Amino acid sequence: MFYKIAQKVMFQMDPERAHNFALSSLKSTANSPLDCFYAQTFKPAPVEFMGITFPNPVGLAAGMDKDGECIDGFHAMGFGHIEVGTVTPKPQSGNDQPRLFRLKPAKAIINRMGFNNKGVDNLIANLKQVKSGALVGVNIGKNKDTPVEQGKDDYLICMEKVYQYAAYITVNISSPNTPGLRSLQYGDLLDDLLRSLKDKQKDLAQKHGKYVPLALKIAPDLTSDEIEKIADSLIRNKFDGAIATNTTLIRDGVSGLLNANEAGGLSGKPLNSLSTSVIKQLSECLKGELPIIGVGGINSASDALDKFDAGASMVQIFSGFIYQGPELVKDIVNAYRVR
Ligand SMILES: Cc1cc2nc3c(=O)[nH]c(=O)nc-3n(C[C@H](O)[C@H](O)[C@H](O)COP(=O)(O)O)c2cc1C
Repeated sequence: MFYKIAQKVMFQMDPERAHNFALSSLKSTANSPLDCFYAQTFKPAPVEFMGITFPNPVGLAAGMDKDGECIDGFHAMGFGHIEVGTVTPKPQSGNDQPRLFRLKPAKAIINRMGFNNKGVDNLIANLKQVKSGALVGVNIGKNKDTPVEQGKDDYLICMEKVYQYAAYITVNISSPNTPGLRSLQYGDLLDDLLRSLKDKQKDLAQKHGKYVPLALKIAPDLTSDEIEKIADSLIRNKFDGAIATNTTLIRDGVSGLLNANEAGGLSGKPLNSLSTSVIKQLSECLKGELPIIGVGGINSASDALDKFDAGASMVQIFSGFIYQGPELVKDIVNAYRVR
């Protein structure tokens, strides 16, 4: 009820202004009596994933709280985990505005944010302030001005810095808004990246006495052959998990709608079936060797159950959360418990 009123106001605003307004409201009300407007409790539905016990299988997808400013607020809404980032070694402002567009009739969003974030050191300062005990995944990327061939170094820098503060780390090579980034999804570049990160993980686990799992986030715009090769590389390099999927460059289901021709990644309802089919193919290729977080177009509990049926062990939401509000978390957890 409260969310529907808040949504009416925010949908009158420019999308990025609304996003910033929502985050600053959440930040200032978290851990205060005012969190009663969005806090919700429900029976837990624990799930084991990459060796971690999560209180439920529904997480907040990366990009909503890039700088980790509202972790306690999102935790109060009942998310089983919160993925912050994508964070890069240096702060960067991202692409020019406007860069975020609603496609309301399709319950979709197009964004070309371009990894706007305040940098990894700022994120760590925020992670140190978390009071709620939320499980936080940190999604890492490369700066725009780092050439793709040296992109690996940016991932290693971020990994080293966030390691001791993260429940798990996501390696994001699938954003369509950083030129050349998706080329890291293929062949030798991918193998070399995964191998280097696993070597680093070994060193850091020894140094900190703590094993932090590594997950790879992939795009939905991959052929079956490419999905097979990625799965192969994940298994060979003993990666811990996969996240499928990021936003798509395809515009199926939105043609003719206002903003449909904006450049960037499409998320929300029109992405749902594409993302589910990528999860299914990836799951078949991984043969249970690595677990999957399913993300992309979940707008109802039944969409989430389809992701579990396709082979995901946990799910994340972003656009569905914008259109449905925090109740979507509760609906999915309740449906998961009785399925
Ligand atoms: C505005 C916006 C910003 C995003 N930023 C990131 C990001 O920084 N890193 C990332 O891995 N994914 C990012 N994503 C992708 C989401 O995490 C998610 O994979 C995608 O939106 C599909 O899920 P959905 O259909 O539930 O939105 C972003 C999505 C949106 C809409």
